[in-house]
This record gives sequence, structure tokens and C-alpha cells, in this order.
Amino acid sequence: MANNEDLLKKIIAHSKEYGFIFQSSEIYDGLSAAYDYGQNGVELKNNIKDYWWKSMVQYHENIVGLDSAIFMHPTVWKASGHVDAFNDPMIDNKDSKKRYRADVLVEDYLAKIEDKIKKEVNKARKRFGDDFDEKQFLATNKRVLDRQAKIDEIKGRFVDALEKNDLVALKKLIEDLEIKCPLSGSKNWTDVRQFNLMFSTQFGSLSEGANQIYLRPETAQGIFVNYLNVQKTGRMKLPFGIAQIGKAFRNEIVARQFIFRMREFEQMEMQFFVKPGEEIKWFNYWKEERMKWHLSLGIPESYYRFHEHDKLAHYANAAFDIDFDFPMGFKEIEGIHSRTDFDLEAHQKMSGKKIQYFDNEENKSYVPYVVETSIGLDRTFLAILTFAYTEEKLEDGSERVVMKIPPFLAPIKAAVLPLTKKDGLPEKARKIMDNLKYDYNCHYEEKDTIGRRYRRQDAIGTPYCITVDHQTLEDNTVTIRERDSMKQERIPMEKISGIIGEKICSVL
Ligand code: GAP
Repeated sequence: MANNEDLLKKIIAHSKEYGFIFQSSEIYDGLSAAYDYGQNGVELKNNIKDYWWKSMVQYHENIVGLDSAIFMHPTVWKASGHVDAFNDPMIDNKDSKKRYRADVLVEDYLAKIEDKIKKEVNKARKRFGDDFDEKQFLATNKRVLDRQAKIDEIKGRFVDALEKNDLVALKKLIEDLEIKCPLSGSKNWTDVRQFNLMFSTQFGSLSEGANQIYLRPETAQGIFVNYLNVQKTGRMKLPFGIAQIGKAFRNEIVARQFIFRMREFEQMEMQFFVKPGEEIKWFNYWKEERMKWHLSLGIPESYYRFHEHDKLAHYANAAFDIDFDFPMGFKEIEGIHSRTDFDLEAHQKMSGKKIQYFDNEENKSYVPYVVETSIGLDRTFLAILTFAYTEEKLEDGSERVVMKIPPFLAPIKAAVLPLTKKDGLPEKARKIMDNLKYDYNCHYEEKDTIGRRYRRQDAIGTPYCITVDHQTLEDNTVTIRERDSMKQERIPMEKISGIIGEKICSVL
């Protein structure tokens, strides 16, 4: 199971060494919180996108896709509330000059107390063995109860300060909890200030009187402003959804933890338009559906949990996160929000255009309500790496790192490897490669010993290695090696494609 910094470091190093992820502009010492996906990374990323798109748009007859522009009219962001309210509270430590998110400092403090409770539970489980009753323990153990009471008290003050936007109360909470700067160790803090996360830029040339516009901080608004276009041209009936994959930009105050929190990232969002009053029913439906989607990747349930929002965003009347057990602990990977009619109503008001749905059955028009599912593509990528990264000690005493990426998402599905570079083996292997490459992303390699080549394919998560040897020339059979079990089997050449297909299609 995850939950250690060491694992994150290993994943970062492995991602670079094997062409998954590089620091942006690395030759200029990098740009913080921006990353490039390398030759294997882009394949994995595309496969995740493809799977999400298929499970949303292709499998649901009432969901259609969209690809809206990143640049949008500046009033969009006024209407959506982002100009006034898309802020994070920031605080600086005067000694280290380091900047932090004030809310994250408190959240980390709370997480530490939660960790202590977890440790108590684990200790007790070991002590009592099979007789251990976790529920009863949590409800009766004095130390746990004291800690829980402390969490509740802090949370009460925290949520109150956030809801009232009371930055003085937030600073007082940080002071009362005696939170120290992890770098300087001091409690010498500035006041808490609000910081708007949107990037802005100039649109058009200055001579034309350029407008200030924003890089979108979410893809959702592109869907809202196209609601009428899609509903009318697609003759969509409620309930229906519009799905979109695309870049989003946020000037995050603290952007650490690799691709978990980036300033440029990708979202996969779906806005589901429903009849007012039916939103909670659909919210519950999508909450469950989205969790099923995550589990369909083949990652065990223990990596996931639901997390109900303590403080609702300005547009929501219900919100849950799906959290994933990243190397840094449980953190949000996807949000499911009941956004009411907030966005469509706001765009209707600001644009002066009627944005409504005519309900034939009820013979009246209304502004639909919206349930949103919003998943981070990069965080999904990191989740898969977290689950997949495996160090193994083998029977012969050697070690290997194998990426147990779900086969249908693996960057390369099969590697074709002639045992030697001579005796006509490369020519035979090339023929196999040519047959497979129209259906699957395959890799051909003849350099190095076969053992080394297997290790390299393990390290990028290739489910199958196909080895062509002298026997192949005689009877058209090859050995096929499976990544996780490392089992090798001799099969006729014509069976290769079917075996790969069966493995990678099992989830689709
Ligand atoms: N339209 C709703 C929305 O944008 P959000 O919870 O702010 O909601 C949705 O973002 C998802 O986008 C998150 O669950 C996360 O996976 C991803 N995300 C948000 N900020 C991110 C960042 N700075 N870097 C990487 N992914 C991010």
C-alpha cells in the first residue's frame, strides 16, 4: 500500500528514466508545476482519455461530447463567479519567505491527528487479533475520543472561517494551533490574504485595444455556454450530458507533489442536465457510477474512498470527492458536484439570452439543474503509476521493477524481440511486428540480451513480450511472456494477436 514519500520519489525518477514524464523546459532548469509527457506517458495518457471518453460518450446514449475553446469571453468568468470567488487563502512565513495555502496548513494539521487515530486502531487490531471490533474501539477508546473531539473543534472553527471568508479567524486558528513553517520552524506568519487562481493574458493587439482574458480554470464553463447549441442541434431530451476533455490552468499558490497539483493540467468533465428537483437522485447515481469506473481499472477498492465536502463551493448544493491513496496519502482524484442551476442561470442573466429547456410533458420552460463529474487526467495518471509501481525480488536473487499498469491502458501492448540479430530472426520478427502494428501499439527491439530487453519492457508495463528464436524459423511458433507472472509459453504465431486482444479487451 502507498503512503510514503519514498514511493513518490521513486515514481518521479522512474517516470523520467522510462519516458513517462519530464519536467517542463528542463534544459532551462525547469518551470515549476508544469510537466511534459514523454513517449510512454503520452500513450498512457491517451489510453486513459480514450477509456473515459468511451465509458461516458460511447456507452451512454444520452451523453455527447464537446471540444470548446480555451479562450472564452471574459464575462463568462464574471458570471461563473470565478473573478470574484476563485481564490485560495495564502500566508507567508516571514523567516523562510515561503508561501503556503492557509487552508492546507490547517488540513495538514488535521491529517496528522487523523493519522494518530489510525495508528491507535492498527495497534489495537494487532493486540486483539480476530476479536477486534473497530467500530466499538472508535466509540469507546479515551485517547481516540479526545483526538476526535479536537478534530471536531478545529473543523468547526475552520469551516466557519472559510464560509464567512474570515481571514482573520483563519490566521488566529493557525496561531492557536501553533502551526510552524516546516522550513524555518518558526510561527512568524503574515496576515492571510486572498489570491485569485486565474491566469490572465491579453487578447488581440494593443493597438486594437486588447482585452484582458483568462485561461480557463475549468473546462465546465465551455459546456455551460454551449448548452443551448448542443441541446437544440442534438435534439437532446433531459436528462442528458455533455462531456469534454481539455486543459485547465490555475496559478496554484503551492504547486508541489509532482503531477498532483500543476499549474497547467487536464480535466475530464461531464455536465449532466436534469429536471429541477431530480438533481439529488442523479447526484447519487453519478457518485456510484464514477466509483465503479475507478474500480473497473482493476485497482483494488482499498485505494479509494468517498469524502464529503465540509464546505460547499459557491455553486453547489451537494458535493463528494473520490479520494485516492496517493503516496502522499488519501487525496482528491475526482469531484462529483450538484451545481444546481447556478451556472446556466448566471449566464442567462449576464448574456441576456434565454437559456432554458422546454419540457413537453409539463408544457413549460425552465433552467435545468446540473450534476457534474470532474476528474483530473493527470491525477488519474499518477494514481495508475502509484498502483502499478512494483519492486520484486525474483527467485534467482535478482530484482526487477515492473509497472503493473492495467493491460488495456499500457503504453505498449507487446514487444517483438528476435533472440539474435542474425540467421534471419530479425526478418521473421519484423513480419510479426508488421502484422500486429495495425491493431496494437507494439515495440520492436533487437539490441541487448533478451533478459535486459524483458526488464525494459517490465519497466514500462508492456503486458507481453514475443520472442522469435531458431525454432520459429522451423515451425512458426514463438514464446510469449506475460509481464506479471513472467510465465512463458510456446504458441503458434497466428495466435499472438488473439491472446493480446483478449487481455486488453477484457475491461472494455
Ligand atoms: N469543474 C469543477 C472543478 O473544476 P475541481 O475539484 O476544482 O472541480 C476537478 O477540479 C478535478 O481536477 C480535481 O478532482 C482534480 O483531479 C483536478 N485538478 C484540480 N486542480 C488541479 C491541479 N492544480 N493539478 C492537477 N489536477 C487538478
